[in-house]
Amino acid sequence: MSVLNGKKILLGVSGGIAAYKTASLVRLFIKAGAHVQVIMTPASKDFVTPLTLSTLSKNPVYSSFFNQDDEDAVWNNHVDLALWADLMIIAPATANTLSKMTTGNCDNLLIATYLSAKCPVYFAPAMDLDMYKHPSTLSSFAALKQFGNVMIPAESGELASGLSGEGRMAEPENIIAFLEADLESKLPLKGKKILITAGPTYEAIDPVRFIGNHSSGKMGFDIAHEAANLGAEVILVSGPTHYKAKNSLVKVVDVISAQDMYDACHLYFNDVDVAIAAAAVADYRPKVVALQKIKKAADDFSIELEKTKDILASLGAIKKNQFLIGFALETENEIENAKLKIQKKNLDLIVLNSLQDEGAGFKKETNKVTFIDHNFEIEPMELKSKESVAVDILNKVILHFSKS
Ligand code: CTP
Repeated sequence: MSVLNGKKILLGVSGGIAAYKTASLVRLFIKAGAHVQVIMTPASKDFVTPLTLSTLSKNPVYSSFFNQDDEDAVWNNHVDLALWADLMIIAPATANTLSKMTTGNCDNLLIATYLSAKCPVYFAPAMDLDMYKHPSTLSSFAALKQFGNVMIPAESGELASGLSGEGRMAEPENIIAFLEADLESKLPLKGKKILITAGPTYEAIDPVRFIGNHSSGKMGFDIAHEAANLGAEVILVSGPTHYKAKNSLVKVVDVISAQDMYDACHLYFNDVDVAIAAAAVADYRPKVVALQKIKKAADDFSIELEKTKDILASLGAIKKNQFLIGFALETENEIENAKLKIQKKNLDLIVLNSLQDEGAGFKKETNKVTFIDHNFEIEPMELKSKESVAVDILNKVILHFSKS
């Protein structure tokens, strides 16, 4: 999945012949799953029509501060447009527009929106080769980079003037590749490896029966998905569940029993930066697994159980620099029990679920958690979707790495 998926992109088009290429650019953004709004300078409309970009972006295209054609003029709010965007790209960026961006000369909607934007801004220059090398243009590039804007360099080739050289706007495919690479390199968990456990475990009684629990695996899969969106490489060790990983950065290791999960976790743990134990691991398993299906005979039947290994505690016992997060599902004396688990399992953070909270627990779409860190700082959170809880957990991970 492209890192542009779900991103809100504001495309500013200025008046150069390369503006015709923005039709392909908008199409590629949409194909990547982005939401696109377009602002055009008046001059750019000579090169590509607003109708083309509106049709492709599936949104109205803006080019002036108010809609002149409307009887009751409607103001196009440049601040709203700028705040809507996750990223803004000015392509093509002519020498004139670049210069106005550096001085704040906002005589059109595009520059006013640029000045209001708080999101990352990219610009893809397009001009003739001598203009591209002129000290005035070079000083615009330098000033914009100084502002924190990112330049997508022009390419070499035949130019509208008939001359050949540097100055062609980067091809739409290359702009997409540039944005994806740049955004990926800046993701907060880029370069981090995270081990996550999810789902229930099934402990065999005989070849057809097992002891299990109602965990759906959703919480662990949501954490894995969110971690991958933030750039992390994820190893998701999951018990039986119908969930599938949605991101190629998530490697799913399917397991069945607590022992399988233990073995898989120990295979990867040394190599990871973070481990998050969201699985509902069976605490006990049948001491003996019958080789054949157990036939019904006596009126009473009992199974002798033995303890499974505590995977999280075993990871806590060998951890070096790994940031270790556990879950605690409690029904009474929640905070005290959770604090004990932090100590017993050598955790950095525990995510406490209380079954006394409505909306929390197994087979629910929502969760209400309280974070407790190793210093016993307690932070109760609101009832939220499990996706939002996953975001909160990963924010704790990001915070940890920002301090270390
Ligand atoms: N856990 C684990 N291995 C086990 C049991 C639990 O890794 N054999 C992990 C869970 O994934 C969770 C945490 O330990 O992150 C706490 O699980 P919980 O069931 O709340 O606590 P237990 O330690 O099993 O203790 P108890 O059931 O007595 O509350």
